[in-house]
Amino acid sequence: MTSRIAVCPGSFDPVTLGHLDIVRRALSLFDEVVVAVGSNAAKSQLLDARVRTDLFASAVADLAGVRVVQMPGLLADLCRELGASAIVKGLRGGADFDAEQPMALMNRHLAGVETVFVTGDPALSHISSSMVRDVARYGGDICDLVPEHVADAVHRAFGPPAPTEGSR
Ligand code: PNS
Repeated sequence: MTSRIAVCPGSFDPVTLGHLDIVRRALSLFDEVVVAVGSNAAKSQLLDARVRTDLFASAVADLAGVRVVQMPGLLADLCRELGASAIVKGLRGGADFDAEQPMALMNRHLAGVETVFVTGDPALSHISSSMVRDVARYGGDICDLVPEHVADAVHRAFGPPAPTEGSR
């Protein structure tokens, strides 16, 4: 029997506990999950693609059936190369669906691949990579939002927090 592969794509800048929740859910539905770390042309990135890929790979090192690859080109091409059965994306709410639906339609147009939308743990629905970056930028605590090694890397990328008014 051929194994059914799901691709979980994203920019993962950085990977959060919400992303890991979706990968685990995808793994419960498919035999293998390939996390594809790409770059969203509409977003500027804090961490470079290699670092984002390595951080995700360390975060799922204990999960059999998951591998992490860098995606330099089109998601549709990667899905074709892998013979993927589906793309899996997490939805936190309606805004996510509005952003994801055009991409799902385009990927089906390009590669005939379906996108499966999965709702994540509501306890994690406030977490996004952009919020994590914003909290970390001002020296806030991101320990409950991302794995520990990711928090270290994000804080390193920003450097020490700037002194606040009154602390100089
Ligand atoms: O986490 P994001 O930023 O929503 O991820 C978006 C990503 C990287 C999955 C998307 O931009 C993508 O698939 N990029 C690869 C290039 C591509 O296939 N573009 C057409 C998308 S329909």
